[in-house]
Amino acid sequence: MWIAPSRDSPDALGIATDLERGLQHLADTYECEWAGVLRDPERRAQFRQYARGQSTEPRKPSARTWVKLAQVAEVPRDGGIAARYGETEIAIFNFASRGEWFASHNLCPHKRQMVLARGILGDASGMPKVACPLHKNTFDLRSGACLTGDLDAIATFPVKIEGDDVLVELPPAEDLCATPPRPAVQDPAA
Ligand code: FES
Repeated sequence: MWIAPSRDSPDALGIATDLERGLQHLADTYECEWAGVLRDPERRAQFRQYARGQSTEPRKPSARTWVKLAQVAEVPRDGGIAARYGETEIAIFNFASRGEWFASHNLCPHKRQMVLARGILGDASGMPKVACPLHKNTFDLRSGACLTGDLDAIATFPVKIEGDDVLVELPPAEDLCATPPRPAVQDPAA
């Protein structure tokens, strides 16, 4: 039989008390599962990073080296070219009107296309930028940050000119995403 709670005792049915007791029990008996894994070598071994080897350490960033990727004369003024680097591509930009060179991964994070070398160079309040030729998302050529939305940043790299050569300071090629297969036809409106 249902009994209406009285004004004097809003929890006459004891519902709130039961909830409080249940919550207290959860708080008292809570145990972080992952902390348990870290304390137990056997369970921790199940989370090793590689099938071979025992390392569970995060991968350290690899050392960068200067790599000769192009000749100065190959890169158009205020334009870019794509240079093959292992299984991937690096975009090299000769921003001649600023007197500066830039390099980035050629991969646009929007549709994961290797197209940035064909992008349009520009200036955003003094900041050098490149607009992707496909859908015009724009990236800061220094930090790589996307300036037109919340896309991932592009990877950018230092450039130096030595004589006729363009050198880019790069991590090992395997640290960068490989070039995806190119679609037969690319629709800019897609
Ligand atoms: S693929 Fe670059 S903006 Fe869409």
